[in-house]
Amino acid sequence: MKFRIRKAVFPVAGLGTRFLPATKTVPKEMLPVIDKPLIQYAVDEAVEAGCDTMVFVTNRYKHSVADYFDKAYELEQKLEKAGKGELLSLIRDVLPKGVRAVFVTQAEALGLGHAVLCARPVVGDEPFAVLLADDLIWNRGPGALRQMADLAESESHSVIAVQDVPRDQTGSYGIVATGPFADRHGRISAIVEKPAPDVAPSTLAVVGRYVLSPRIFDLLENTGAGSGGEIQLTDAIAALLKEEDVLAYRFEGRRFDCGSHIGLVEATIQYALDHEDLAPAARAYMLDALSR
Ligand code: G1P
Repeated sequence: MKFRIRKAVFPVAGLGTRFLPATKTVPKEMLPVIDKPLIQYAVDEAVEAGCDTMVFVTNRYKHSVADYFDKAYELEQKLEKAGKGELLSLIRDVLPKGVRAVFVTQAEALGLGHAVLCARPVVGDEPFAVLLADDLIWNRGPGALRQMADLAESESHSVIAVQDVPRDQTGSYGIVATGPFADRHGRISAIVEKPAPDVAPSTLAVVGRYVLSPRIFDLLENTGAGSGGEIQLTDAIAALLKEEDVLAYRFEGRRFDCGSHIGLVEATIQYALDHEDLAPAARAYMLDALSR
């Protein structure tokens, strides 16, 4: 099978309770870092990796994600009349030409694995990507998914992004055991969802970027509730390991856990310091705030 990804799946049906009350009406994927919602960063990364179909798995409360990727006729007309071409292209380019958005409903919040399975009718029988938008990955060079797509294509295997975490944090992640690494990748020998530090097979944690073989769908169909009583993508990947090689990939870039308050703050600081117009004022304010 050719491991060329064209479709990217974005599970956006989680509750986002850590950001209440903001997430009472806005899903966490719509929280902004500077001027773009998290979901836009993830979509841009998928487009850069060669994907032309964005599959959003939402629930009935997530209209704002659909509205965001829809055409904003009235706003476009206003900006056009006012001659604001730059702003116009900003809102038009949320999805570049030739890229389409498909929305799939996850009626019940049964877990990440279940959310991915909901995308099956759209993805069909081809390798695809999964991106968790609250893991924001910043890199000056190629995006994390682009790096993974290249590896998946050259090795013809599924690829999962990983990073080292402190041992006391293994209970927040999927954790992998691997064979020796060649450069940035190694073959996964085991994967387990949110193990306690004393039983974790390593401290190599799964980050929210996956390039997956479509075989995962059959395995998800047969995956029961796991950690937290939810259908876990990790458990289906554990089953996949018995049939196919799956690679762990230490991506180049910095990941921000924007599902946590401090992660969103750190991301905002990083993007502000990296922003052409904002950087001088942001830096000056930070120095001033720290000196007080
Ligand atoms: C999910 C996955 C977990 C992975 C994590 C990365 O967990 O289940 O394996 O390590 O994303 O962010 P969640 O953070 O949704 O609980």
